[in-house]
Amino acid sequence: MSDLSHLHPDTTAVTAGRPPRTEQTPVNAPVVLSSTYYSTGVPEAGDLVYARAGTETWLPLEQALAALERAELPALAFASGMGAISAALDLVPAGGEVVIPRHSYHASLVAARHLAERSGVTVTEVDIAETEQVTAALTSSAQRGHAPVLWVESPTNPMLEVADLPVLAEATHAAGGLVIADNTFATPLGQRPLELGADVVVHSVTKYLAGHSDVVLGAVLTNDSSLHQHLHTRRSIGGAIAGPWEAWLALRGMRTLSLRVQRAQQNAAALAAHLSGHPHVVAVGYPGLPDHPQHQRAADQMNGFGSILTLRPLGGVAGADALTRAVQLWLPATSLGGVESLLERRRRLAAEAPTVPEDLLRLSVGIEDADDLIADLDRALAVAAEYAR
Ligand SMILES: Cc1ncc(COP(=O)(O)O)c(C=O)c1O
Repeated sequence: MSDLSHLHPDTTAVTAGRPPRTEQTPVNAPVVLSSTYYSTGVPEAGDLVYARAGTETWLPLEQALAALERAELPALAFASGMGAISAALDLVPAGGEVVIPRHSYHASLVAARHLAERSGVTVTEVDIAETEQVTAALTSSAQRGHAPVLWVESPTNPMLEVADLPVLAEATHAAGGLVIADNTFATPLGQRPLELGADVVVHSVTKYLAGHSDVVLGAVLTNDSSLHQHLHTRRSIGGAIAGPWEAWLALRGMRTLSLRVQRAQQNAAALAAHLSGHPHVVAVGYPGLPDHPQHQRAADQMNGFGSILTLRPLGGVAGADALTRAVQLWLPATSLGGVESLLERRRRLAAEAPTVPEDLLRLSVGIEDADDLIADLDRALAVAAEYAR
C-alpha cells in the first residue's frame, strides 16, 4: 500500500484504494464476481485461491479504510459490523475477562454475554466515562491473573458517554491486556483509536463509512500482524465475508465521507443548540454542548463531536412514540450514519439497556437543510407535548 499519511484525511477518503495509474486501467476498481481462481500447485501466502479466503474486490475498501485509520495493515472487511465484532471478541481467550461499557451497542453486549455463557469469560460492565471505575475493573482483572480485553465505544450508543481513550489504553496495557475500540460513531475522521492506543478497531461500515443506508458491512483494523492473522483466520473460518457489491458500494460511499460528516455535524450542532432550553424538551444530549459531562474530553480527543443526539421530549414514552409518528421529514427507523436523518426511541427494542431512559430518542442527523429538520422536529415535539397535559 502506498504511504498516504502525508495527505489530509479528506483527500485520503477520495484517493485511497484506487487502481494503479497505468494506461487504460479504470479509475475505480472493478467488481470481480468469481468464487474461485485459476490456481495450480501449492498456494503461497496471499495468493487468490478461493473467494471466502480472499478476493481482490475487498482490497480497495480495505486499503482505503486502513489509510483513513492510519493502520499499518489493510483492514479486514466483514459481512456486517457484528461479523467484525464477533471476530474481534474471539480474541478473548476462554476463561478470560472483558471490561465493556454498559451502554455499548446492545448486540455487542449480547455477544460478550454469550462468551460468558459459552466460554466462561467474565464480563464486567462499566460506565466507560468514569475512568477510575474502568481502571479499577482492569486492575482487579490483572490481580486475578488475567490479561483483560477492554471494549471501548466512544461516544457510546446510545448514551453518548465519552471515554478517555489514551488513559484507558495505558491502563489496559499496564494490566497486560488489549484494547478493542468500536469507532463507528466517531468515524476515522472524528478520531483514530489506533493512534490513541487501541490495539484493534472495529467498524459497522453500514453506518457513516458507507453512508447511504443501502449496505450492511463491517471491518476490523490492527497494526499487530499476529492479531491480524488471527482475525483473518476467523473471517475465513467463520465465513462472515463481505459480498463484492457491498464492498464496492461501501467504497463508493466513502468517497464523500468528509463532506457528509462535516454537513451532518453542522446540522447536529444547530439542532443541539435549538433543542437546548426548548419548551417541549426535557433533555438533550450531544458531546458538542458545553453542558455534556465529557464535553471537554470530547473536544480534546475528537475532531468534531459527531452527528448523533439524544432527545427526551416532553410527554414521556407516549409523547416520544407520538413524535416518531408525527415527523414527516425525519425517518422513524433504526440505524444511523446515512445521508437521511433517522430517529428512534431506543427502548422500543427489548435488547436495549434498562439504564437507557424509556423516553429517550436517538437522532442520527443527516445532511438535509438544518432549518427543514428543525421545523419538522418542532412540529412533532408540539404533538409529543400534548401527552404531558
Ligand atoms: C456502534 C455500533 N457498532 C456496531 C454495530 C453493528 O453493526 P452492523 O449492524 O453493521 O452489524 C452497530 C449497529 O447499529 C452500532 O451502532
